[in-house]
Amino acid sequence: MFRRTRALRDPVEITLDGETIVAEKGESLALAFLAADKTILARSPKLHRPRGPSCLRGACDGCLARVDGEPNVTTCLHPIRGGEVVSAQNVVGSRKADLLRVTDWFFSQGIDHHHLMAGIPGLSDVMLTFARKVAGLGRLPSEALPALPARRLEVDVVVIGAGVAGIAIASRLAGAGKSVILVDDGMDLGGSLAGTRRKAATLRGQFPLKGVEVLLQSVAAGCFFGDVLIATPEGAVVARPRATVFATGAHDGTLAIPGNDLPGIFSARAFCHVLGAGIEPDGPVAIVGEGFWADEVATALVGWEHFRVPVDHAVAVHGTAGVNKLELREGDTTRKVKVASIALALPGAPAFELAAQAGAETRFDPARGYAVVTDDRGRAGEGLWAAGECTGRDFDPEALMREGELVAASVLEALR
Ligand code: FES
Repeated sequence: MFRRTRALRDPVEITLDGETIVAEKGESLALAFLAADKTILARSPKLHRPRGPSCLRGACDGCLARVDGEPNVTTCLHPIRGGEVVSAQNVVGSRKADLLRVTDWFFSQGIDHHHLMAGIPGLSDVMLTFARKVAGLGRLPSEALPALPARRLEVDVVVIGAGVAGIAIASRLAGAGKSVILVDDGMDLGGSLAGTRRKAATLRGQFPLKGVEVLLQSVAAGCFFGDVLIATPEGAVVARPRATVFATGAHDGTLAIPGNDLPGIFSARAFCHVLGAGIEPDGPVAIVGEGFWADEVATALVGWEHFRVPVDHAVAVHGTAGVNKLELREGDTTRKVKVASIALALPGAPAFELAAQAGAETRFDPARGYAVVTDDRGRAGEGLWAAGECTGRDFDPEALMREGELVAASVLEALR
């Protein structure tokens, strides 16, 4: 379904279920597997449907695997060092032929495992044992991981999210002499734009991060009584900022049609990342939806077979181990079209959760879900600011940069 079209600059070897794969050092494991046409990486926990990477940002469960004895690693966020031993988890058989897939056929309407054979002596115990085998995500780590240190620090500003708005804000605040920590769980700076290398480089050129403590592959895990808990690969950081800025972006939208979880379906943003890494599908691509990312994918696919589909024309996705056909509405009938991959450019749902936990107000938009409420300069509460898609805005890099400047000015004024 996929192949690598660019020569490797720094090749290293990794293994997936015992098979050796040559990969680019520093790229994510998930991308290396895609380039080697390993599109099924995981299985859904209950029905064991095949799963492949779809978000490339640690937000779906399509790329979870056991890496060097550690279960549930999001392989799309794991940069390759070389020598990694990766294996599928929670399967009986293999990633590609998982015998537990029969649960999907036996329980085509879903499993109510809470009540299944409950209360029937003997049988309920058998069922419980079976359910524990079918469900769950992997076995415990091969060995206990060493405890990592924690550090506590005081800082002027913590900016959560190193996308367009977050980088603009961190850059301007550090340029004004403030101490700034910029946190992001991704492997690269740029957030959504990280998949479009030229645009990400332009952003970084425009908003240098000199003086900013950048914590990548780091998760802002919670905001407690003014502290921000950050889990980094080196240990925990408990930061006490004078101002906290949420630029947490949005969760990719999904298409509510049958077959929407098959390997080979990506968010359009993630698909740009795939193409930008020099990995191409070996057949036609359907771009479903519209907007910035639909246009980006279409531009990247110039010269490549692709077609655009309005969201309400997509009826179902067909395939067994991965996407094979997209069924389209045509008047009163439907037609199946062969595709190798599908890029979904749908409105995202604002990532409001952390800001809400910190005390920011939210509002509900029926089309998008909850979003952080701010005033016209990004203020979201006492010591809190928010910017970008988490406030319900569309992804528009130019507009997000301008908003970032505005929010940075507001934070500076408050810190004076
Ligand atoms: S979590 Fe890795 S692709 Fe979605």
